[in-house]
Amino acid sequence: MAQFIFGIEEMDEYYKRALAPRRLVVLKGHPGSGKTLFASTMCVSNALKLGHKCLYISFQEDEEKFVEYSQGIGLRTTEAIEKGLLKFVRLPLISSEEGISELLDEISRIVSEYKPKVIVVDSISPILQVAGFEPRARGLLQNYFYNMPSIVDGIAILIAEIPLDENVYTGSGIDFVADIVIYLKSEVKGNLLVRKMEIKKIRGHGIYISDSPFKITSQGIQVFLPPLIEDVPPPGPSVIILDPALEHLEKYISKIRLGESIYMKSGGGDEAIYLTIAYASHANKAKALLVSFRRSEEEVREMIGERLGIDPVRIEKLIEEMMVHSINPAEKSFEESLGEILYLAKRLKPQILVIDGIDVPLMLSDSPKEVLLHVRNLQLIARMLNCVILIVDYSEKPNDPLLRLSDIVIVSNLRNGEVCISAARKGKPFDTRCMSISMLEDYRELLARKLKEGLTQRVSKTPMESGG
Ligand SMILES: Nc1ncnc2c1ncn2[C@@H]1O[C@H](COP(=O)(O)OP(=O)(O)O)[C@@H](O)[C@H]1O
Ligand SMILES: [Mg+2]
Repeated sequence: MAQFIFGIEEMDEYYKRALAPRRLVVLKGHPGSGKTLFASTMCVSNALKLGHKCLYISFQEDEEKFVEYSQGIGLRTTEAIEKGLLKFVRLPLISSEEGISELLDEISRIVSEYKPKVIVVDSISPILQVAGFEPRARGLLQNYFYNMPSIVDGIAILIAEIPLDENVYTGSGIDFVADIVIYLKSEVKGNLLVRKMEIKKIRGHGIYISDSPFKITSQGIQVFLPPLIEDVPPPGPSVIILDPALEHLEKYISKIRLGESIYMKSGGGDEAIYLTIAYASHANKAKALLVSFRRSEEEVREMIGERLGIDPVRIEKLIEEMMVHSINPAEKSFEESLGEILYLAKRLKPQILVIDGIDVPLMLSDSPKEVLLHVRNLQLIARMLNCVILIVDYSEKPNDPLLRLSDIVIVSNLRNGEVCISAARKGKPFDTRCMSISMLEDYRELLARKLKEGLTQRVSKTPMESGG
């Protein structure tokens, strides 16, 4: 177990050794970038998970608001306070240089009385501003902050504000002496907000990614970090069957190992995809999570229900291992969507994860390359979660990077009234078979029949489930 934590799962996994005792952390950013909530997360998590007392000093807000906002992102702040593991202190802002040493004395007094292991100062900017460029006052402050981690024999987290319309940043001296500097940013892409975290420095730790998207949710802060490649295992031994209707391609797709990634360029409609997933989920007794950028949850269920001749309300109960989640890409950035996908995948632990309609975010994004990078990371994360990931693309032409990166590629095209399906494992030549559209339709019917049989059988076997 680490000695101190960020309290954000992804960061604690990725930056395992970053938070040793006597580390000075600087969190900087514009107003609203998430500094206070990030620091609150660290404070409450170290208190409740590791029993480290945390002292939160604020010049900005009162305790009531601090508790309310931090609990709003799922932190158990009141509990930490009640257990004596968190102390919130609001100090008045100072206005003169003489006030500085009085303030520092006051902080020292509280520290020696409470004996915290984690201390947060939210924020150091107004104090630095009072010191201005006066070298003696600045020196005093920098020295004090620099020594803070040693004084508490733990970690100190200093928040530094960057004013909205300025790029003037008064805390730069502190950056030089800090062990960890995290810059929280929010960018507007199109008209969508994307939060990003830039790790400017972590002493004793390599930094390979500069910007990582993150999300503030009612369950806490979620950071999207690529998995460390040494943590990514080979695909698992278990296999799943995707679609026995496509028998001639069995060589490729009848044995898909958990953790493998499939890229599918669909030449036909999405109904076939939904039916296939419902079947695969049912036949393999595997949980499936279908995330659609194209259709709403209800529509997907209706389409499956219609083909099977089952009421959409009943179909929801019948295909309960198949969870459908829809995302409107005009409403959320792809980074936000990713957070949602990961949250669901980690909670539901599906064996099949489907990203339905990757062409939509690729088409709408200003930076399709970034979307692809995230998709690649999603493939690696699926591998770690021991889950097959199927990325479905409905565009005219297959996407070259996805063709190259996926373990299995299935491309279907409509040609002169025929459907031609090409499939290959990574690096192997394509095997192409064509069939008439009516023949494909027969396959679909067969699949639907098998699925319906299976579903109704299960219902009759377990009357408890179907009752009510
Ligand atoms: N429960 C919540 N769910 C989602 N976003 C939230 C929630 N609470 C606060 N936020 C977001 O967090 C931002 C404020 O974060 P905060 O840490 O106070 O910023 P800073 O301290 O950098 O000014 C707000 O812009 C708001 O959009
Ligand atoms: Mg704040």
